[in-house]
Amino acid sequence: MNILPLDNLQLGVPTEIAYYHVSGTKIFSIGDTPRIADVISLKRLKVNELYHSSDEIHLAKWIAGCGTRKLTLDEVLPSHKLAGDIFSEEGQKLIGMGGTVNRDVRRELKAKGVTDVIVIREYSELGELESYLKDRKKQSAQDSKYAEIKLDPECIISDASTISASRMKRGITREIRIKPQGDPLHEAIDHEPPGFRSDDLKKYYLSLYEKHFNQTREFFDALISENSTAIKTRHIISLANEVIQCLIRDKNLLIVMHQLQTKNDQIVNHTLNVTLICINIASSMGYGREQVLELAYAAFLHDVGMLGEPEDIFEKKDSLSSKEKESIAVHPERGVELIKKLDCIPKSTPYVVYQEHEREDGSGYPNHLKADQIHPFAKIIAVADVFDALTCTRAWRPAMLPYKAMELIIKQSNKGVFCRDVVKAFLRYFSLFPVGSWVQLSTKEIANVIAADPRRYDKPIVRVAFKNEDREIYASPKIIALANEPHIYVAAPVEAPRDLADSQFWIMNLL
Ligand SMILES: [Fe+2]
Repeated sequence: MNILPLDNLQLGVPTEIAYYHVSGTKIFSIGDTPRIADVISLKRLKVNELYHSSDEIHLAKWIAGCGTRKLTLDEVLPSHKLAGDIFSEEGQKLIGMGGTVNRDVRRELKAKGVTDVIVIREYSELGELESYLKDRKKQSAQDSKYAEIKLDPECIISDASTISASRMKRGITREIRIKPQGDPLHEAIDHEPPGFRSDDLKKYYLSLYEKHFNQTREFFDALISENSTAIKTRHIISLANEVIQCLIRDKNLLIVMHQLQTKNDQIVNHTLNVTLICINIASSMGYGREQVLELAYAAFLHDVGMLGEPEDIFEKKDSLSSKEKESIAVHPERGVELIKKLDCIPKSTPYVVYQEHEREDGSGYPNHLKADQIHPFAKIIAVADVFDALTCTRAWRPAMLPYKAMELIIKQSNKGVFCRDVVKAFLRYFSLFPVGSWVQLSTKEIANVIAADPRRYDKPIVRVAFKNEDREIYASPKIIALANEPHIYVAAPVEAPRDLADSQFWIMNLL
């Protein structure tokens, strides 16, 4: 049997094989769509692995063997129940099915030459597991918001090899210009202020990030390997669906994930962060579920043109040479060439990959396109891309405080560089003092931002952790919705307390 760690189960997409509990109980049938809630429930039942096999005979034998196990007489405990009758060599029944083996019985069996017995295997979690499976059936019948999102066949390019960057240079055409439509994703999201979060949920979000980190690196390696063709984009669909499920379940916890920089792989980190931010912004702008998935494709692929750049370009402390600058300037075009290798992409993706560095006022590159010539998804990626780049450490500068980055983006939007609607939507989700950042209040207390409040960009919901600038800690931190407090406001953004700067620690211990 093959074993799949529960953390590696793909969420939001139908399973292609069936998965079993160690007891042989089927947990997911082919075509079931696992959701976050399933992973959390299973972990609570101490189920951390799933069993599967594509060999039907092997699977049937395994299931049949799951209910029993063979033990030597010395291993049998008084609590074990026999799985069948035991007969002597003469055919005399020594003990019946369901019977137990105490010291006298053991001695008697040994005397009759019995060495092993088959006992019933008991699983303490089985009762609870069965009631979870029953509840899940009921729940999924009434709850469609976690259902897998698929690309609309109308919006898919049938043969990606026909894409050409020269077609993108003229900007978008009328049939590509899109407006929010379909079932708005934001209607499915729980907008209540954050309540209690279990450790299981937090650990699950962290493990999801780790999983996608590794899968994204593998995907990128396949994409740039020389002879690769028809690379499957299933990873993008599953990533987008899993991120969307996290967004529906707990949007603030998801937002904080963009601060994770678990490994030193700048492009992968940037890709995941930008995808996550774009999904948030598009949802805030009222885009439909399928449209958000379509955007996620482009967000995930927006910088693949940088994959061929030598590593040291990212590590350089000095300014780039003119040759290096030229090379970076053509990364949108290189990106379009690379995505031809994919088995399936939305029609909008090449435009968006090509245009993510264009700006509303024509100051961008490679073609100085303006407002209506730029695909709306490219405008979303432009903002997410700059925000993430500014708030991450680079070889030549430290990371900017999230507030400072947000302030810079607002200034640029006022000058007409970024699309105002995108920046407004970004503020609604991230707040002027982005979720996860630290602020000093007018009361001198130090707090961290735990949720945006759509009523006021500048007055998020905060958790007050310290009494004053000396960081004297509150025994039990209080949560304040600043929009309800006319006399309390954010006085200044501050650096994260040094011991809390590790976002993984912060997520597990403070959120
Ligand atoms: Fe880029």
